[in-house]
Amino acid sequence: MTSIVIGASSAIARAAIQQLLERGQTVHAISQRPRPAALSDERLNWWQCRHEAADIEARVNMLAERIADAPIERVLICNGRLHSESIDVEKKLDDLEAESFHQLMDSNALTPALWLRSLLPLLKRHETRIAVFSARIGSIGDNRLGGWYSYRASKAALNMLLKTAAVEYARIARSVKLVAFHPGTTDTPLSKPFQAKVPEGKLFTPDFVASRLLDILDTVEADSNLSFLDWDGQTIDW
Ligand SMILES: NC(=O)c1ccc[n+]([C@@H]2O[C@H](COP(=O)([O-])OP(=O)(O)OC[C@H]3O[C@@H](n4cnc5c(N)ncnc54)[C@H](OP(=O)(O)O)[C@@H]3O)[C@@H](O)[C@H]2O)c1
Repeated sequence: MTSIVIGASSAIARAAIQQLLERGQTVHAISQRPRPAALSDERLNWWQCRHEAADIEARVNMLAERIADAPIERVLICNGRLHSESIDVEKKLDDLEAESFHQLMDSNALTPALWLRSLLPLLKRHETRIAVFSARIGSIGDNRLGGWYSYRASKAALNMLLKTAAVEYARIARSVKLVAFHPGTTDTPLSKPFQAKVPEGKLFTPDFVASRLLDILDTVEADSNLSFLDWDGQTIDW
């Protein structure tokens, strides 16, 4: 069995790769970054790729040749940013800046959608479960605290792109199941600046979350709908 992990430098993605390898899978990992030294296994193929449409398309074409008819069991699309040296989370409307907003929309909503666009022809013949990393904070119904405008908006936009893609996948790649996945607050560089406020026992390790995700993908009903699920397998309000 073969799995594809995109945005593979993410801490959760790396834990998932390790666990997929332990399950005996061949893994194609795709990242803008080079392969981490800690991840070495002859069944791990690490491909570098920029987050741009032409590069994504070229990578998928290359994978199609490499994978040929091998079943593709899982695809994890892990891309997502919250902050960087130049991007701060917004506490109030006055903090909203066009450049940061565009950057988060690009990495959190457009990039995963471009991967789904390029992967569609490859997945036509496969029974594949795809998890795309969303976030509860992208739920419009669940938004009680406000703030974090760009991140929230980018994950809400991602959810709509996933819902729309699920409609098209259901027509063309009928055996594919799509899941928008909320990992919960996990100890990664993304959550680092905000971990002090996380209640005791609620900051998960990447290993725990990766294992929950793989269990959920093993058991989720393979209907043609998009599910929005948290680390516990519970449905999140859109
Ligand atoms: N950690 C949490 O508490 C938490 C909570 C809710 C949701 N999430 C979501 O979980 C996912 C994984 O996050 P993580 O916590 O594991 O974060 P992380 O370790 O900081 O990983 C960052 C991810 O973002 C990708 N990325 C970086 N720059 C990018 C760009 N310019 N364009 C597109 N992608 C880019 C990286 O892909 P490359 O490998 O190509 O660099 C990597 O997949 C994200 O979607 C995040 O929003 C995390």
